[in-house]
Amino acid sequence: MVPLLENKVCLISGAGAGIGRAVALRFAAEGATLWLNDIDGDRFTSVVAECIEAGAATAGTPGDISKGAVAQEWVDAAVAEHGRVDVLYNNVGVSRSGLIGDLSDDDWRFQQRATLDTVFFCTRAVLAPMVAAGGGSIVSMSSGAGIGGQAGLGGYAAAKAGVISLMETVATEYGHLSIRANAVTPGPTATPPLLSYLDRQPGGVAAHTASLNLERLTEPHEVAATVAWLASDQASSISGICVRSNIRGASRKPPRS
Ligand SMILES: NC(=O)c1ccc[n+]([C@@H]2O[C@H](COP(=O)([O-])OP(=O)(O)OC[C@H]3O[C@@H](n4cnc5c(N)ncnc54)[C@H](O)[C@@H]3O)[C@@H](O)[C@H]2O)c1
Repeated sequence: MVPLLENKVCLISGAGAGIGRAVALRFAAEGATLWLNDIDGDRFTSVVAECIEAGAATAGTPGDISKGAVAQEWVDAAVAEHGRVDVLYNNVGVSRSGLIGDLSDDDWRFQQRATLDTVFFCTRAVLAPMVAAGGGSIVSMSSGAGIGGQAGLGGYAAAKAGVISLMETVATEYGHLSIRANAVTPGPTATPPLLSYLDRQPGGVAAHTASLNLERLTEPHEVAATVAWLASDQASSISGICVRSNIRGASRKPPRS
Protein backbone atom coordinates (compact mmCIF):
# COMPACT_ATOMS: atom_id res chain seq x y z
CA MET A 1 0.00 0.00 0.00
CA VAL A 2 1.35 3.43 -0.97
CA PRO A 3 1.02 5.86 1.97
CA LEU A 4 -1.89 8.25 1.40
CA LEU A 5 0.09 11.47 1.76
CA GLU A 6 3.55 10.59 0.48
CA ASN A 7 5.44 13.71 -0.71
CA LYS A 8 2.56 15.99 0.27
CA VAL A 9 3.28 19.19 2.20
CA CYS A 10 0.52 19.26 4.83
CA LEU A 11 -0.36 22.14 7.15
CA ILE A 12 -2.31 21.55 10.37
CA SER A 13 -3.52 24.35 12.66
CA GLY A 14 -4.05 23.61 16.36
CA ALA A 15 -2.08 20.37 16.09
CA GLY A 16 -0.90 20.28 19.70
CA ALA A 17 -3.70 18.29 21.34
CA GLY A 18 -6.78 16.13 20.84
CA ILE A 19 -7.99 15.66 17.28
CA GLY A 20 -5.32 17.93 15.78
CA ARG A 21 -2.54 15.86 17.34
CA ALA A 22 -4.19 12.60 16.18
CA VAL A 23 -4.40 13.99 12.63
CA ALA A 24 -0.74 15.08 12.75
CA LEU A 25 0.35 11.57 13.81
CA ARG A 26 -1.85 9.92 11.15
CA PHE A 27 -0.49 12.26 8.47
CA ALA A 28 3.04 11.40 9.66
CA ALA A 29 2.23 7.69 9.28
CA GLU A 30 0.91 8.40 5.78
CA GLY A 31 4.24 9.85 4.61
CA ALA A 32 3.38 13.57 4.83
CA THR A 33 5.84 16.39 5.23
CA LEU A 34 4.30 18.37 8.09
CA TRP A 35 4.04 22.06 8.88
CA LEU A 36 2.32 22.47 12.24
CA ASN A 37 0.90 25.20 14.45
CA ASP A 38 -0.54 25.57 17.93
CA ILE A 39 -1.19 28.60 20.13
CA ASP A 40 0.40 26.72 23.05
CA GLY A 41 4.19 26.66 22.67
CA ASP A 42 4.74 23.56 24.82
CA ARG A 43 2.10 21.55 22.95
CA PHE A 44 3.57 22.71 19.66
CA THR A 45 7.08 21.60 20.61
CA SER A 46 5.81 18.28 21.88
CA VAL A 47 3.77 17.34 18.78
CA VAL A 48 6.58 18.38 16.44
CA ALA A 49 8.92 16.04 18.38
CA GLU A 50 6.36 13.20 18.24
CA CYS A 51 5.94 13.51 14.47
CA ILE A 52 9.69 13.61 13.90
CA GLU A 53 9.97 10.51 16.12
CA ALA A 54 7.32 8.91 13.88
CA GLY A 55 9.58 9.54 10.88
CA ALA A 56 7.96 12.63 9.32
CA ALA A 57 9.88 15.74 8.26
CA THR A 58 8.14 18.18 10.61
CA ALA A 59 8.44 21.87 11.45
CA GLY A 60 6.17 24.92 11.65
CA THR A 61 5.54 27.82 13.99
CA PRO A 62 3.51 28.30 17.17
CA GLY A 63 1.09 31.24 17.31
CA ASP A 64 -2.49 32.48 17.49
CA ILE A 65 -3.90 31.95 14.02
CA SER A 66 -7.11 33.81 14.90
CA LYS A 67 -4.94 36.79 13.96
CA GLY A 68 -4.84 37.17 10.19
CA ALA A 69 -1.21 38.29 10.06
CA VAL A 70 -0.07 35.30 12.14
CA ALA A 71 -1.97 32.86 9.90
CA GLN A 72 -0.50 34.46 6.77
CA GLU A 73 3.05 34.33 8.18
CA TRP A 74 2.57 30.66 9.14
CA VAL A 75 1.55 29.75 5.58
CA ASP A 76 4.20 32.00 3.98
CA ALA A 77 6.89 30.30 6.07
CA ALA A 78 5.72 26.87 4.86
CA VAL A 79 5.89 28.00 1.24
CA ALA A 80 9.34 29.55 1.81
CA GLU A 81 10.55 26.25 3.31
CA HIS A 82 8.91 23.74 0.94
CA GLY A 83 7.93 25.73 -2.15
CA ARG A 84 4.28 24.68 -2.02
CA VAL A 85 1.27 23.62 0.06
CA ASP A 86 -0.68 20.48 -0.88
CA VAL A 87 -3.00 20.06 2.11
CA LEU A 88 -4.45 22.33 4.79
CA TYR A 89 -6.33 20.84 7.73
CA ASN A 90 -8.10 23.57 9.72
CA ASN A 91 -8.49 22.07 13.19
CA VAL A 92 -8.84 25.05 15.54
CA GLY A 93 -12.21 25.73 17.16
CA VAL A 94 -13.18 26.76 20.69
CA SER A 95 -16.61 26.87 22.37
CA ARG A 96 -18.05 28.80 25.30
CA SER A 97 -21.36 27.60 26.68
CA GLY A 98 -24.37 29.81 27.39
CA LEU A 99 -27.85 30.52 26.12
CA ILE A 100 -27.94 33.08 23.31
CA GLY A 101 -29.54 35.68 25.58
CA ASP A 102 -26.69 35.32 28.08
CA LEU A 103 -23.72 35.54 25.70
CA SER A 104 -21.57 38.64 26.16
CA ASP A 105 -20.08 40.52 23.20
CA ASP A 106 -16.75 38.95 24.13
CA ASP A 107 -18.21 35.40 24.26
CA TRP A 108 -19.64 35.90 20.78
CA ARG A 109 -16.55 37.56 19.21
CA PHE A 110 -14.15 35.07 20.83
CA GLN A 111 -15.98 32.08 19.36
CA GLN A 112 -16.23 33.62 15.89
CA ARG A 113 -12.53 34.52 16.00
CA ALA A 114 -11.31 31.17 17.32
CA THR A 115 -13.67 28.97 15.31
CA LEU A 116 -14.44 30.74 12.01
CA ASP A 117 -11.80 33.46 11.53
CA THR A 118 -9.04 30.86 12.00
CA VAL A 119 -10.45 28.79 9.14
CA PHE A 120 -10.92 31.82 6.90
CA PHE A 121 -7.44 33.25 7.50
CA CYS A 122 -5.59 29.97 6.87
CA THR A 123 -7.78 29.03 3.89
CA ARG A 124 -7.32 32.43 2.24
CA ALA A 125 -3.57 32.20 2.76
CA VAL A 126 -3.17 28.76 1.10
CA LEU A 127 -5.26 29.48 -2.00
CA ALA A 128 -2.59 31.35 -3.97
CA PRO A 129 0.13 28.73 -3.33
CA MET A 130 -2.32 25.92 -4.14
CA VAL A 131 -3.32 27.63 -7.40
CA ALA A 132 0.38 28.05 -8.24
CA ALA A 133 1.02 24.36 -7.48
CA GLY A 134 -1.88 23.21 -9.67
CA GLY A 135 -4.25 22.13 -6.90
CA GLY A 136 -4.66 21.12 -3.29
CA SER A 137 -7.02 19.80 -0.64
CA ILE A 138 -8.51 21.75 2.27
CA VAL A 139 -10.28 19.92 5.10
CA SER A 140 -11.93 21.90 7.90
CA MET A 141 -13.27 20.76 11.24
CA SER A 142 -16.89 21.74 11.74
CA SER A 143 -19.20 20.15 14.33
CA GLY A 144 -22.63 18.58 14.61
CA ALA A 145 -23.50 21.84 16.38
CA GLY A 146 -23.03 23.54 13.01
CA ILE A 147 -25.99 21.65 11.53
CA GLY A 148 -29.35 22.54 13.02
CA GLY A 149 -27.97 24.52 15.96
CA GLN A 150 -27.25 23.36 19.50
CA ALA A 151 -28.82 24.55 22.73
CA GLY A 152 -26.27 26.16 25.02
CA LEU A 153 -23.59 26.37 22.32
CA GLY A 154 -25.16 28.94 19.97
CA GLY A 155 -22.08 31.08 19.32
CA TYR A 156 -19.97 28.03 18.52
CA ALA A 157 -22.79 26.47 16.45
CA ALA A 158 -23.10 29.62 14.32
CA ALA A 159 -19.35 29.67 13.69
CA LYS A 160 -19.27 25.95 12.81
CA ALA A 161 -22.17 26.43 10.36
CA GLY A 162 -20.00 29.15 8.82
CA VAL A 163 -17.12 26.68 8.43
CA ILE A 164 -19.30 24.33 6.35
CA SER A 165 -20.52 27.21 4.19
CA LEU A 166 -16.99 28.52 3.70
CA MET A 167 -15.78 25.12 2.47
CA GLU A 168 -18.78 24.84 0.11
CA THR A 169 -17.94 28.24 -1.37
CA VAL A 170 -14.24 27.46 -1.77
CA ALA A 171 -15.20 24.21 -3.52
CA THR A 172 -17.40 26.20 -5.89
CA GLU A 173 -14.93 29.00 -6.58
CA TYR A 174 -11.72 26.95 -6.91
CA GLY A 175 -12.80 23.51 -8.12
CA HIS A 176 -11.83 24.28 -11.70
CA LEU A 177 -8.30 24.89 -10.41
CA SER A 178 -8.20 21.39 -8.83
CA ILE A 179 -8.58 22.69 -5.29
CA ARG A 180 -10.95 20.59 -3.18
CA ALA A 181 -12.58 21.80 0.05
CA ASN A 182 -14.54 19.69 2.52
CA ALA A 183 -15.70 19.74 6.12
CA VAL A 184 -16.07 17.05 8.79
CA THR A 185 -18.43 16.73 11.77
CA PRO A 186 -17.22 13.65 13.66
CA GLY A 187 -19.74 13.58 16.49
CA PRO A 188 -18.69 13.95 20.13
CA THR A 189 -15.04 12.91 20.24
CA ALA A 190 -13.11 11.68 23.28
CA THR A 191 -10.70 14.57 23.87
CA PRO A 192 -9.99 16.23 27.25
CA PRO A 193 -12.24 19.32 26.69
CA LEU A 194 -15.27 17.17 25.82
CA LEU A 195 -14.63 14.60 28.57
CA SER A 196 -14.33 17.34 31.17
CA TYR A 197 -17.56 18.96 29.90
CA LEU A 198 -19.43 15.63 30.02
CA ASP A 199 -18.16 14.95 33.54
CA ARG A 200 -20.04 18.06 34.67
CA GLN A 201 -23.33 17.03 32.98
CA PRO A 202 -26.03 14.85 34.60
CA GLY A 203 -25.41 11.21 33.67
CA GLY A 204 -21.94 11.96 32.28
CA VAL A 205 -20.67 10.18 29.15
CA ALA A 206 -23.36 7.45 29.20
CA ALA A 207 -26.26 9.92 29.09
CA HIS A 208 -24.62 11.81 26.26
CA THR A 209 -23.80 8.82 24.07
CA ALA A 210 -27.13 6.95 24.44
CA SER A 211 -28.70 8.96 21.61
CA LEU A 212 -25.75 8.70 19.20
CA ASN A 213 -25.95 6.25 16.30
CA LEU A 214 -22.88 4.36 17.52
CA GLU A 215 -23.87 4.76 21.20
CA ARG A 216 -20.28 5.70 22.05
CA LEU A 217 -17.92 8.63 21.61
CA THR A 218 -15.87 8.90 18.43
CA GLU A 219 -12.12 8.40 19.03
CA PRO A 220 -9.60 11.01 17.78
CA HIS A 221 -7.80 8.41 15.62
CA GLU A 222 -11.10 7.71 13.82
CA VAL A 223 -11.45 11.38 12.92
CA ALA A 224 -7.83 11.36 11.76
CA ALA A 225 -8.54 8.47 9.36
CA THR A 226 -11.41 10.41 7.75
CA VAL A 227 -9.36 13.60 7.45
CA ALA A 228 -6.39 11.73 5.95
CA TRP A 229 -8.62 10.15 3.32
CA LEU A 230 -10.31 13.45 2.41
CA ALA A 231 -6.92 15.16 2.21
CA SER A 232 -5.49 12.48 -0.07
CA ASP A 233 -5.80 11.82 -3.79
CA GLN A 234 -7.99 8.82 -2.91
CA ALA A 235 -10.77 11.41 -2.51
CA SER A 236 -9.88 13.17 -5.77
CA SER A 237 -13.50 13.74 -6.81
CA ILE A 238 -14.81 14.63 -3.35
CA SER A 239 -15.36 18.36 -2.91
CA GLY A 240 -17.97 20.60 -1.31
CA ILE A 241 -19.28 18.03 1.15
CA CYS A 242 -19.46 17.69 4.91
CA VAL A 243 -18.72 14.19 6.23
CA ARG A 244 -21.23 13.94 9.04
CA SER A 245 -20.77 10.94 11.33
CA ASN A 246 -21.97 9.46 14.63
CA ILE A 247 -24.94 11.80 14.75
CA ARG A 248 -27.84 11.85 17.18
CA GLY A 249 -30.21 9.19 15.90
CA ALA A 250 -31.98 7.80 18.94
CA SER A 251 -35.40 9.07 17.91
CA ARG A 252 -35.16 7.05 14.70
CA LYS A 253 -33.94 3.83 16.31
CA PRO A 254 -36.21 0.80 16.34
CA PRO A 255 -37.16 -0.52 19.78
CA ARG A 256 -35.01 -3.40 21.08
CA SER A 257 -36.60 -6.62 22.23
N1 LIG B 1 -13.99 16.92 20.85
C1 LIG B 1 -15.21 16.91 20.27
O1 LIG B 1 -16.17 16.30 20.74
C2 LIG B 1 -15.41 17.66 18.98
C3 LIG B 1 -16.54 17.35 18.21
C4 LIG B 1 -16.75 18.04 17.01
C5 LIG B 1 -15.85 19.00 16.62
N2 LIG B 1 -14.75 19.29 17.40
C6 LIG B 1 -13.82 20.29 16.93
O2 LIG B 1 -12.57 19.64 16.70
C7 LIG B 1 -11.49 20.55 16.87
C8 LIG B 1 -10.50 20.02 17.88
O3 LIG B 1 -11.19 19.74 19.09
P1 LIG B 1 -10.45 19.04 20.32
O4 LIG B 1 -11.52 18.48 21.16
O5 LIG B 1 -9.35 18.16 19.84
O6 LIG B 1 -9.85 20.34 21.07
P2 LIG B 1 -8.50 20.56 21.91
O7 LIG B 1 -8.75 21.75 22.77
O8 LIG B 1 -8.07 19.28 22.56
O9 LIG B 1 -7.41 20.95 20.79
C9 LIG B 1 -7.45 22.18 20.13
C10 LIG B 1 -6.03 22.68 19.93
O10 LIG B 1 -6.11 23.96 19.26
C11 LIG B 1 -5.23 24.87 19.88
N3 LIG B 1 -5.72 26.24 19.65
C12 LIG B 1 -6.80 26.83 20.22
N4 LIG B 1 -6.94 28.09 19.76
C13 LIG B 1 -5.92 28.28 18.87
C14 LIG B 1 -5.54 29.39 18.07
N5 LIG B 1 -6.22 30.55 18.10
N6 LIG B 1 -4.44 29.27 17.28
C15 LIG B 1 -3.74 28.11 17.25
N7 LIG B 1 -4.06 27.03 18.00
C16 LIG B 1 -5.15 27.12 18.79
C17 LIG B 1 -5.23 24.46 21.35
O11 LIG B 1 -4.08 24.92 22.05
C18 LIG B 1 -5.31 22.93 21.26
O12 LIG B 1 -4.03 22.34 21.24
C19 LIG B 1 -12.16 21.88 17.26
O13 LIG B 1 -12.41 22.66 16.10
C20 LIG B 1 -13.48 21.44 17.86
O14 LIG B 1 -14.44 22.46 17.81
C21 LIG B 1 -14.52 18.63 18.57
